[in-house]
Amino acid sequence: MSEIVLLKDPARPLDQRGRAMHDLRISVMDRCNFRCTYCMPKDTFGEGYRFLSSAERLSFDEITRLAGLFVGLGVRKLRLTGGEPLLRAGLPELIGDLAALPGIEDVALTTNGVLLPRHAADLKAQGLGRVTVSLDSLDPDVFRHMSGGFGSPTEVLNGIDAALNAGLGPIKVNCVVQRGVNDHTILDLVKHFRGTPVIVRLIEYMDVGNRNHWNLERVVTARDLQTEINATWPLVPVAPGYSGEVAERYAYADGAGEIGFIASVSQPFCGDCTRARLSSEGVLYTCLFASHGIDLRALLRSGATDNDLEERIRGTWLSRNDRYSELRADHTATPERKIEMYYIGG
Ligand code: GTP
Ligand code: 5AD
Ligand code: SF4
Ligand code: SF4
Repeated sequence: MSEIVLLKDPARPLDQRGRAMHDLRISVMDRCNFRCTYCMPKDTFGEGYRFLSSAERLSFDEITRLAGLFVGLGVRKLRLTGGEPLLRAGLPELIGDLAALPGIEDVALTTNGVLLPRHAADLKAQGLGRVTVSLDSLDPDVFRHMSGGFGSPTEVLNGIDAALNAGLGPIKVNCVVQRGVNDHTILDLVKHFRGTPVIVRLIEYMDVGNRNHWNLERVVTARDLQTEINATWPLVPVAPGYSGEVAERYAYADGAGEIGFIASVSQPFCGDCTRARLSSEGVLYTCLFASHGIDLRALLRSGATDNDLEERIRGTWLSRNDRYSELRADHTATPERKIEMYYIGG
């Protein structure tokens, strides 16, 4: 509905496939306190790994300035990601500045949850709307295997409780399903959150980055997951909440809440992809699987005007033609080096 109005607005650039820019995902921190095997495997991200220095990361002022320019080009939704965004000192302050930008309708945060008990109230007070928490299994051994030995299901559940108490809802739980790794624990996870306001989203395992040893055989399709859950707790489809929503939504027929499936591998959603991504060092990417980005930090730090920056961002979006997941599905994806997930935040 409002999308039609968006497309007619001359200030809002459309890319080569007619897609507007609506969401900006900002990675505020490249470090993480977990080492998930599918994102930051320990063998690569060990003691000697060189993360960014704080001077290399965009400052809060730089992030806020850029976000304001993105709003001018059509962005209405911001999602802060990492690595682990709550490792960035003073994050609530940044949230306050971003939430105050005129035109922003939704500010969300993706986190592994363990630092939420410490920060949830402050984040809410500064204007954060909601959080999405990653949780791959409630089985402590499976969890630790997947997180690289850090954290525990109890810690994450405490984080979710803190977010619920602070009013950071609707809270979503992202669960990446891998065959032979955590697929046998999915029903348990789903059962745990049935009857609560927390929405579990089961995500197909993707070939993000270059180091996660992805293999199609490890993917459990959203369709299979939906069939399995439907057999235990019948599901009824729910209409998308907004145009371009990545999750397919279902409600439990018995009224016990909602669940989502994200079929990024088996049913790519590039056609509606309105997401831009900014790395913690200020590189703009127009796809989760991009191999190149635009260095906005260099422009910012060389004294570019708002107009210069805006034109660079507009030009980047106008020439955007990404649809990696569709190409993967057609087996025509290029094997070029991709950006790493920890660096762009998913
Ligand atoms: P909502 O605003 O709550 O609907 O969030 P969202 O689903 O847009 O964002 P979230 O970060 O929770 O996305 C969940 C997962 O979907 C991510 O972790 C990715 O695995 C996948 N995903 C999100 N956006 C994209 C995308 O643009 N491309 C692909 N291929 N996968 C995506
Ligand atoms: N496939 C799918 N989703 C992934 N995430 C991280 N790595 C992958 C992957 N290989 C998602 C997790 C996490 C978010 C930051 O990114 O769900 O919640
Ligand atoms: Fe950290 Fe999230 Fe990556 Fe796990 S998936 S290593 S919690 S950024
Ligand atoms: Fe968007 Fe790229 Fe994901 Fe397709 S693969 S949905 S273009 S981020």
